[in-house]
This record gives sequence, C-alpha cells and structure tokens, in this order.
Amino acid sequence: MIHQNTLKNQKTLARTLIFKPHPNNMVLSSSPTSVDEGIHHRSAKADSASVVDLAEFIHSLPPILRRLKESARESLHARATQDGLRGTADDPVGELFGRIDLGLGEWRKYAHFDPSRNYTRNLVATDDETFTLLLLCWNPGRESPIHDHPCDGCWVRVCDGKIQETRYEVNEKTDKLDIISDEIFEDDAPTFINNTLGYHKVGNPSVSKPAVTLHLYCPPIRKCKIWLDPNDASHPSNAYMCNYSEYGIKSTRVMFEVHVI
Ligand SMILES: [Fe+2]
Repeated sequence: MIHQNTLKNQKTLARTLIFKPHPNNMVLSSSPTSVDEGIHHRSAKADSASVVDLAEFIHSLPPILRRLKESARESLHARATQDGLRGTADDPVGELFGRIDLGLGEWRKYAHFDPSRNYTRNLVATDDETFTLLLLCWNPGRESPIHDHPCDGCWVRVCDGKIQETRYEVNEKTDKLDIISDEIFEDDAPTFINNTLGYHKVGNPSVSKPAVTLHLYCPPIRKCKIWLDPNDASHPSNAYMCNYSEYGIKSTRVMFEVHVI
C-alpha cells in the first residue's frame, strides 16, 4: 500500500538558504505562547506504578537500544522482528517512551518558545549515539515543513494542546506527495513514524493556544529532507537542525540551515 521512497537522483547543491536567529529570538515571549498561560497540563498516567520520570527514561533507554542493535547485528530474524514491532504496542522503545510522566514539572524547564518561528526545538537529552529527546513548542496556527526521518524512527507524545499530523507518500507517476492521512492528536498516547510509513508535516491547529510535544529520535539525526513543494517530490531540500535551547538553556548557534537541491 505504501511504497518505498524512491526519490530520483538529487542534483548538487544549487543554492543555500540560511535562516539566522531573529534578534528577538534571544528574548522569550511573554505573549500567549508562554507555557504558563491558559493551557491545561497533563498529569501522570493513571497507572502510576508504570510511570517513569524523564531522568529514569534517559537512564534506561540507551541499554535497551544497545541490546536491540546488538541483537539485530547478530540475527537477520531479530532485525526483521524489531522492524515489525517498531511503533506497535510490543515495541520496547515505544512502550518505555509511553510511560514517561508528562506532568508539567517534568518538562517545563525545557519549554522555550521563540515567537518568530513556527516551532521551537529544545534539546532535552541525547547520548549522541542511540537517541535524541526533543521538546518542540508550537506557536498557534503554525506547522513544520513536510519532512522525512532518516533514522529507525520518531516517537511523539503530546504534552499540551493539540497537534495535527498530515502524512504523505511519493506518487511515482505524478512525482507528487500524496496525502495518506490527516489526524489531530490531543491525548498523550505515543505516535510513531519512519520512512517506511511515509513522510509528514506536523502543526498546531489551534489559532490561539500553543502546543508542546515530546519527540524521541533513535538514533540521533543531524539532518533530514524537507519538501517545500509537495508537487515536486523528487527535489527535496536538506535541512540541518540546530536547537534553540539545550538542556533548558538557550543556545546562541545558528538555528536552521537549508540547502536547496
Ligand atoms: Fe517528524
């Protein structure tokens, strides 16, 4: 049903667009996009015995991922099994991710909003080997570009507000990205995507309320493909990602760099 991505050969870099931080970026908004204003915050899941806090999750995850990687290296069958389980209820990574306490106290220190951006990337944790955990803060009515996930997968949970996800697949006959699903998520159940399931864009459908999401990438990714024009599937751009804040502290690096190919 969903075919493999078969993008045509990419041309060499034709031009480079660099999005530098807006001068106002260094000042967090006190506008409606402040995390403290008017949004209801999730509490720990009902089964408190199964809940893990962020610190526990960050400590527990790498050994699981290393075991999975070792097992996949030793056995093609194990690798196929892992691929099949990823994103299902029996996926050990998603299962642990789904048990993180999303109470405000867990993630508030990471929730920086840059009012000049569609969404703000905040690094919560990474080991630069097996995983990266990001908190994304979405301004009302704003969305990401369509993008891929050059890793084993991306797991997402909604911490606050609502998120709209639109998924695409490449139509090889028309060279367009066709929409294959369009959903709004407002509970905190994990969702999953990787390149075998399609590409997606994510946005905040509310015109007035901010949204906050927790994203787990395994292994970490430094860049991805983005599509500025869904009618031109064979000419994506490369996006190199930097974070607005790291471990709760604002970064002064260039935020986002796009090479149009
Ligand atoms: Fe994504």
